[in-house]
Amino acid sequence: LTSISFFGDFSMTDIQQASLYMSERTFNRNSFVFMEGEVGDELYIVLSGTVEINRFENGRKSVLTTLKEGDFFGEMSLFDDREVRSANAEVLDTAVLAAIERRKLQCLLETNPGVTYKLLTVLIKRLRRANDRIHDITFLNVRARIYKQLLRLAEEYGIKLNQTIMINLRLTHQQIADMVGCTREMVSKVLNELQEEHVIMINKKRIIVKNQIMLSDKVISF
Ligand code: CMP
Repeated sequence: LTSISFFGDFSMTDIQQASLYMSERTFNRNSFVFMEGEVGDELYIVLSGTVEINRFENGRKSVLTTLKEGDFFGEMSLFDDREVRSANAEVLDTAVLAAIERRKLQCLLETNPGVTYKLLTVLIKRLRRANDRIHDITFLNVRARIYKQLLRLAEEYGIKLNQTIMINLRLTHQQIADMVGCTREMVSKVLNELQEEHVIMINKKRIIVKNQIMLSDKVISF
């Protein structure tokens, strides 16, 4: 747990204490940790692998977020205990998760204000992002939404290599379309345009942002 960013700011004693509350589970690729509408009793921390939080409507998928090592999920239905899971948690790459039951989480939060504060910080960040999403869907056209999503992914999953930023996620065009709320064809078209303009390049299924400033300017110019 010491290498997990969720616990990055905590002492060894805090981490040892927290680990007593958790049990480890492995989920295979393409399985669901839980489905929207189920009753929830556990929160999960991603120890390794990738988990996508998504919802479906008439066969179409909307991706709320993609979670990696150190991220947590499943807290919402634990805090408002009459509510069910607000979305699906789908495993994209085999995931090892630390599960914490509701009662144990409560105990951990009561005895450890540092963990509570950290949890709040992450939830506020998620609210900001959800607000941004509402803003984008209200005011931006599809192209600008794709540009913004690339900038966001670069910020969250980016690894800086000289002047470029590699988005360290293997993403299909369909996955980006599901994040933005548009068609796969539109994503392919826009990514091709951006490659021709030397704003991005694609290497081994990873998107590399070559010119972040130009990409930001393209959002503003819309
Ligand atoms: P819960 O409702 O228990 O189950 C689904 C989980 O997905 C939810 O808790 C949150 O942990 C997570 N989740 C729901 N909406 C978002 C969002 N907009 N951004 C990030 N995570 C979310």
